[in-house]
Amino acid sequence: MTVTASQPTGFQPAYERHDWSSAFRNVGVELSDVPLEPVRGTIPPELKGTLFRNGPGRLERGGQWVHHPFDGDGMISAFRFEGGQARLTNRFVRTEGWLAEEQAGRFVYRGVFGTQKPGGPLANAFDLRLKNIANTHVVQLGDQLLALWEAAEPHALDPRTLETRGLSRLEGLLKPGEALSAHPRFDPGHHGESRMVTFGVKAGPTSTVRLMEFATADQPDGVRAGDLVADSHHSFKGFAFLHDFAITPSWAVFLQNAVAFNPLPFVLGQKGAAQCLASKPGEAGQFWLVPRQPGHHAGARPLLLPAPEGFVFHHLNAFEDPATGEVVVDSIYYDDFPSIGPEVDYREIDFDSIPEGQLRRCRIDPRSGTVQSEWLEQRCCEFAMVNPAKQGLNARFAWMAVAERERGNDPLQAIEKLDLQTGERLVWSAAPRGFVTEPVMVPRLTDGSAEEGAAEDRGWVLVPVWNGARCATDLVILNAADMTEQAVLELPLAIPYGLHGSWSATA
Ligand code: CO
Repeated sequence: MTVTASQPTGFQPAYERHDWSSAFRNVGVELSDVPLEPVRGTIPPELKGTLFRNGPGRLERGGQWVHHPFDGDGMISAFRFEGGQARLTNRFVRTEGWLAEEQAGRFVYRGVFGTQKPGGPLANAFDLRLKNIANTHVVQLGDQLLALWEAAEPHALDPRTLETRGLSRLEGLLKPGEALSAHPRFDPGHHGESRMVTFGVKAGPTSTVRLMEFATADQPDGVRAGDLVADSHHSFKGFAFLHDFAITPSWAVFLQNAVAFNPLPFVLGQKGAAQCLASKPGEAGQFWLVPRQPGHHAGARPLLLPAPEGFVFHHLNAFEDPATGEVVVDSIYYDDFPSIGPEVDYREIDFDSIPEGQLRRCRIDPRSGTVQSEWLEQRCCEFAMVNPAKQGLNARFAWMAVAERERGNDPLQAIEKLDLQTGERLVWSAAPRGFVTEPVMVPRLTDGSAEEGAAEDRGWVLVPVWNGARCATDLVILNAADMTEQAVLELPLAIPYGLHGSWSATA
């Protein structure tokens, strides 16, 4: 494992496929407060809080494998740090589907990404139930830990024990089955108090977005952590697949990808619902700028602007440029919607045949209605974030998972720190036998509050790494400023590639 500045382009993949695919397995055990010892380095004593992570933990039942790992049941890991020590707890989310399938010993629900019940199309046709698998993200809101899955309500868990409390309608705020995004954004205090900003989308010929803002701390005026403080609905023409969004002090920024949804193969039991999405060739998407409350444009109508061609799952960040009046949005673009066909085994996937993600900056001018774009990173990348104190603001640094090769599509094996002003890069790599998931940047705080004027890259990057040599997961702690390795913790656990995670200052 090494840290380098940019290297010359390599042409050979830096990994063996069996090392990569050995991560696709079931999580076999649930641990409670197991101490973790570093095999290298030391855990920084100032690191205090909990890293929560979510991702698919069950990929096979009764000898049948999921069609796509995104159909795996949500499994939460909690890494608690205090006084230079670390402890690990992990639990499956006790969803209705997980409980039923545990009892049956086989899949009894269809998966959105193509997993079918045993018995072929006849056994699956007209079964339009969606299995809420709670596997995409995990965040703390008030005294609830929320396991998120974007097509339905969250599951609430005990933040300490990870025991499932049950489906949550957020104290009656959500209707039964109402969608809540798996990508909340945490406003660090653009208008005073910190907030969690999130959305739900009801997609159809006209799609409606519900934009919601929650207090994340108790406030002097009686507002409690978890209370809803802003709520609005906005309708747009056309089908919308919205996985993520971005915020600035005045705007919630959405990118409506140019995709169409044909539900017939889903209804007939031939495909999963997400496999019925297809890109609309030659068409570009559009940005929706939805005014936040409060904000400079509160109460105004949303603005629609053209987006570059390509497909976006995730954004890095957005901000308002006071010098130009532009809204700047950084997103990871794919040439096309990356889909896996019904006949393809994801473990055999040909990386060269699917597009890689690349980081692109769009400068949106709301007055002229024009959008200009430039590449920030063309090395294959995903899962990018800025310092949380810079969410919605002009951040200098980004941390993201990247491929080992500088061009082409490959598994993610390294973590890059990118200076968005100078283009300077620092890369820590787990290649050839390590494979990274989403990095979480944790700012170094004093007494639980951000230090005024502290350097934006002061802190750590926490990243779970699949270790192909020992077929288990490591947690790696990097120094966020120089990307040197601080500690490697070998977990007594094998966790398949995860999705999203978050940091909570409570240990
Ligand atoms: Co995501």
